[in-house]
Amino acid sequence: MKKVTLSELGLKYNTDKASLFVYNNTTLKGHDYLKYYELFLKELKKEHFTLVELGCFTGASLKMWKEYFPKAEIAGVDLNPKLTSLEEDRIHFICSNAVSIELLQKLNKFKNIKCIIDDCSHAWSDQRRSFEMLFPILSSGGYYIIEDLECGSMGAYPNYPPTVLDSQIFWDYAADRMRILRVSESCNQIQYRPFFNQLPKHIQDIELSIDMSIIVPGSIIFRKK
Ligand SMILES: C[S@@+](CC[C@H](N)C(=O)[O-])C[C@H]1O[C@@H](n2cnc3c(N)ncnc32)[C@H](O)[C@@H]1O
Repeated sequence: MKKVTLSELGLKYNTDKASLFVYNNTTLKGHDYLKYYELFLKELKKEHFTLVELGCFTGASLKMWKEYFPKAEIAGVDLNPKLTSLEEDRIHFICSNAVSIELLQKLNKFKNIKCIIDDCSHAWSDQRRSFEMLFPILSSGGYYIIEDLECGSMGAYPNYPPTVLDSQIFWDYAADRMRILRVSESCNQIQYRPFFNQLPKHIQDIELSIDMSIIVPGSIIFRKK
């Protein structure tokens, strides 16, 4: 039997992560992220794990993830309390601000979080706050995806050297980690990144636990060591 691709499921459930989606009876071009995500996420298809998505809207993507990952629990996070209506077998709804510290406690009951997708406010400051808070709870080998980075590109610019992730554009951040981190790990952090020791400890820990960052149009995929 032919396997259904993630891109096909995106079209089926009408999420804007797909190549096309219908909005107000009009077919629009989507972000077309799914062909990239599948290159990495297909390895999780047979696993028991939790996928967390920040931002639910109609629940289209939650349903897509549920069908693509038959053994996963899908946890959707959104500010809108009415979205409890999205709950069904293997789909859980968490009403929370994606940047609020109480989200950590609400996610406590979920085991083996191996994928987190940030598709909510799309503000860089929020994306960075969620990343700083949630990347540490991602399981080893897990993926953290930040979508729609172009939405923030009108607002934030980097201060160098950064003292928190907030001061650096995420694209640059992702590329920088890959350019420098591998070298600086095996050699001398101070020599290659004089500011590394000035970073808060939890940021140092995050940086040292990033295994890979993949930049695709509009989105970044981080993998955890
Ligand atoms: C782009 S939609 C999500 C689309 C959905 N992931 C999909 O692909 O079908 C964004 C959602 O994020 C929610 N949202 C915006 N800011 C948020 C925040 N700070 N915390 C939690 N949810 C937020 C909105 O209520 C909205 O439902």
